[in-house]
Amino acid sequence: MYVITGASGHTGSVVARSLLERGERVRVVLRDESKASAWRQWGAEVVLADLHDAAALTLAMMGARGAYLLLPPPPPSSTGVMEDRLRMVDAMRQAVKASGVPHFVLLSSMGAQHAEGTGLVKTLHLAERDLGALGVPMTILRAAYFMENWSFALPPAVEAGVLPSFFGPSDRPIHMVATRDIGEVAARMLLEPALSRRVVELTGPVDYSPDEVADTAARLLGRPVHVEEHNVAAMVPMLEELGFSGELAHLVMELTEAINRGHAVFERPRQFARGRTTLDEVFGGMLRAMKALPHLGFGAEESTSVSQ
Ligand SMILES: NC(=O)c1ccc[n+]([C@@H]2O[C@H](COP(=O)([O-])OP(=O)(O)OC[C@H]3O[C@@H](n4cnc5c(N)ncnc54)[C@H](OP(=O)(O)O)[C@@H]3O)[C@@H](O)[C@H]2O)c1
Repeated sequence: MYVITGASGHTGSVVARSLLERGERVRVVLRDESKASAWRQWGAEVVLADLHDAAALTLAMMGARGAYLLLPPPPPSSTGVMEDRLRMVDAMRQAVKASGVPHFVLLSSMGAQHAEGTGLVKTLHLAERDLGALGVPMTILRAAYFMENWSFALPPAVEAGVLPSFFGPSDRPIHMVATRDIGEVAARMLLEPALSRRVVELTGPVDYSPDEVADTAARLLGRPVHVEEHNVAAMVPMLEELGFSGELAHLVMELTEAINRGHAVFERPRQFARGRTTLDEVFGGMLRAMKALPHLGFGAEESTSVSQ
């Protein structure tokens, strides 16, 4: 039996569904009973637990052959982000130790090898460090920038032919991966024999510059879309306007800056793995969900989720 945290989210949902499809027993960790019935119908056990709760997580992991662990993104308005995420990591550390789970996959990020200068990704560096100190076999899955992050830029692309981007220069490719690929790779890693510590760095089938991201949107929409490059410093007021705390907005800005200056990158530049899902497929799903694909007509298709 495998325990999956974040099962209602982008990657955890794919890990859990992939394992169920292979006939494995799965226990999903949710915090909201209203999301449980679908999982029970799909054949999963459900445990309700907050990721800060070491005792509940220990019970959830008891008897498991492996666990998929992630640190959820902090709620936008949150403050005390580092302290809070460290409390979560500590609860996971206690649960891994007390439950005796023999192997876990930790979702991490490119750049998490660095202790400083990566903004929000520093939380993942600390998770790698503290969970790694247990000495329990651990697979660190360091993912590239999620293709799904561009969802914020699709409405202006649809409405005004403009793709806002904080990455620059706009013709420089960035590693990007679909959350579906992350979930599928994590499921495979859980099924493989556990090694003491391994790092898997994962990106998509090709890398895309912001210009190529705009081209992808343009191709799908059937009309021009061009990049509108913003200075990274403009990110803080923009995110605050959207309800982010100043603290979290700065952490996101620092991460974006770290990607721009090549600090938040893979540790082993020639050894990373590539997934198979293209940006066309991800944008296709998101635009269908927005009912914005011209050949379908507005309102012609039910909304679909890219992460399930
Ligand atoms: N975005 C990127 O480009 C990128 C790149 C590399 C790595 N990452 C890392 O990927 C991770 C996010 O993965 P994801 O996109 O799969 O997550 P996600 O879709 O944001 O889902 C988060 C999940 O965690 C659950 N959750 C939130 N707070 C919880 C709590 N206190 N107790 C129990 N469950 C809780 C949520 O449940 P509810 O449904 O109840 O909210 C949801 O299932 C982060 O660690 C991020 O740093 C992101």
